Amino acid sequence: MAKIIDGKKISQEIKDEIKAEIERDGIKACLAVIIAGSDPASQVYVKNKKTACEYCGIRSLSYELPEDTKEDELLALIKKLNEDPEVDGILVQLPVPEHIDEDRIIEAIDPAKDVDGFSRRSVGALSIGSNGFVSCTPAGIIELLKRSGIEMEGKECVVMGRSNIVGKPMAMLMLRENATVTVVHSRTRHIEDICRRADILIVAIGKPRMITHDYVKDGAVIIDVGIHRLDPGKNGGRKLCGDVDYEDVEPLASYITPVPGGVGPMTIAMLMKNVLKSAKEK
Ligand code: GUN
Repeated sequence: MAKIIDGKKISQEIKDEIKAEIERDGIKACLAVIIAGSDPASQVYVKNKKTACEYCGIRSLSYELPEDTKEDELLALIKKLNEDPEVDGILVQLPVPEHIDEDRIIEAIDPAKDVDGFSRRSVGALSIGSNGFVSCTPAGIIELLKRSGIEMEGKECVVMGRSNIVGKPMAMLMLRENATVTVVHSRTRHIEDICRRADILIVAIGKPRMITHDYVKDGAVIIDVGIHRLDPGKNGGRKLCGDVDYEDVEPLASYITPVPGGVGPMTIAMLMKNVLKSAKEK
């Protein structure tokens, strides 16, 4: 039976630590959140980010822009927030509407306020091991592992998926922790054999329940980044699942993250941590 890594509990601990530090040291921190358009999932994420700010004692500024916002208007808003000394972090919720160039938007954010850690400067800093903002989901996974007492040094870690937001920074962070890292993706051959070598298997491939016991070594640590909404009729009443077939894999694993309540809540906790870091470094 695997030990369940409780991301909800650990993320709450982190938010409580941030709240306590802000209160104790009288820190003033402020996050500007921008959303363009009305994508329902993005609206939920943004609402959760604002709620977390309020909980931690971080001021949040909210910019809800229409779907037809022009790229120049969005760039002008980012410029204004870059120049505002009160603002410590700027977050543009992705995806942006199709007519807007996502890369230009990310690069317009002052690197000192890039609390998502998506800009070239932040990603470059991570890859050479210098100080910078780290993408929140992979940073949250490192916290989950550390706070669960899971050793990374010298371990075989397989990262499934190579996105800029999760897979690639995840591999960099595991290297920083002295793990031996392999990244597998949709074109990888013999993927199951490679995954079965993993002491720590981090799955971010975006396919519901793809990872079965065939991919998992006895005693492996399983981290599931995926989150999918399933038709409850086909799924015994459970509405959410991850990239991992939890029931099939759990008996083999030593530790496993559930979905929901595993990796998901950590992303926002780490965002709060990045805003606090920015405020302290100002
Ligand atoms: N869209 C999905 N995840 C994220 C995230 O972590 N940050 C931003 N800005 N947009 C997202």
